[in-house]
Amino acid sequence: MRSTEYEAGTTVLVTGAAGFIGCNLVNALLARGSSVVGVDNFNDFYSPAIKRSNVADALQHKAFTLIEADICGRDAMKAALATHKPDTVVHLAAWAGVRPSLERPAVYVRNNVEGTTNLLELARALPKTRVILASSSSVYGSNNAVPFREDMNVDQPISVYAATKRACEIMAHTYHTLYGMDIWCLRFFTCYGPAQRPDLAIHRFTRLIDEGKPITVYGDGSTTRDYLYIDDCVAGVMAAMERCKGFEIINLGEEQTVRLDRLVEMLSQALGKTAKIDRQPVHPGDMLHTRADVTKARKLLGYQPHTMIEEGLKRFIGWYRKKDQS
Ligand SMILES: NC(=O)c1ccc[n+]([C@@H]2O[C@H](COP(=O)([O-])OP(=O)(O)OC[C@H]3O[C@@H](n4cnc5c(N)ncnc54)[C@H](O)[C@@H]3O)[C@@H](O)[C@H]2O)c1
Repeated sequence: MRSTEYEAGTTVLVTGAAGFIGCNLVNALLARGSSVVGVDNFNDFYSPAIKRSNVADALQHKAFTLIEADICGRDAMKAALATHKPDTVVHLAAWAGVRPSLERPAVYVRNNVEGTTNLLELARALPKTRVILASSSSVYGSNNAVPFREDMNVDQPISVYAATKRACEIMAHTYHTLYGMDIWCLRFFTCYGPAQRPDLAIHRFTRLIDEGKPITVYGDGSTTRDYLYIDDCVAGVMAAMERCKGFEIINLGEEQTVRLDRLVEMLSQALGKTAKIDRQPVHPGDMLHTRADVTKARKLLGYQPHTMIEEGLKRFIGWYRKKDQS
């Protein structure tokens, strides 16, 4: 299907629409002419006020409908799907974050595994609807050999969050096998950019360094991450929506890694302030290294990562400063 055919008159239901990735995706979908139904329960994992401001622009748009609902709720989600009959569901709603998942495992299981199962079970009533599901690089768990490829063994997650994300992939595969649903799972690597969650390292470090407060750095700074810029993430999701057929699991990253100490240095330079470091041992649940092999994304999605960390951080800091002034 050519992308222009797909864009005309499609309806997309986005769960987690008020979150970081969700609001960026919603704005991009509206800009290209899709009708968008956003679902979010504005939970307090981080400030619901931030989530409200994330959807403020979209709410001005006629083609956007916001449904405040929990994805675990059967009636509300059934009504949302039956009313809007989306061509595609992009399922982003989840409790994200590795460290908090060790404190509240039941919340993660409920929202991530039960929520996803509820959604898949209801979506099967719409046989033509494609489902794009947000998975995570965290599923690679104790694998040490980077870059990570989709066909690696991922049976050794090292956090509750990772285990729930892997469970969602397995559930998605089950629904594809049982009912022939078209479902693609995208394994996002560490995503950053405007509207990034306040708990994630780049945002948290930026705020604390800017305020002259110490930042907690786990380990000696040699851990590395593949940081995925939000525009590349959104481009990958939109390409997956257009091409989703059958079942696939696909990495989305930049194929570039940054050491933690280098990240802190870059942020300090960009902010013109010295970081005060409170060094702590590596946190249980944290992976030492991540790096995506995006060969499959290139092949199936025509994916091409564009924004490397230097440029992405510039844009993020620009957004951060502007936000503070408004
Ligand atoms: N940001 C990243 O680096 C990253 C990396 C890998 C995977 N992911 C995945 O991408 C997705 C989006 O992540 P994000 O960073 O935008 O997180 P986020 O927390 O900013 O967004 C998630 C949104 O989902 C909503 N939500 C959670 N549980 C819900 C429920 N039961 N019912 C309705 N709404 C609910 C939240 O209120 C929030 O607005 C998640 O599935 C996450 O696991 C994110």
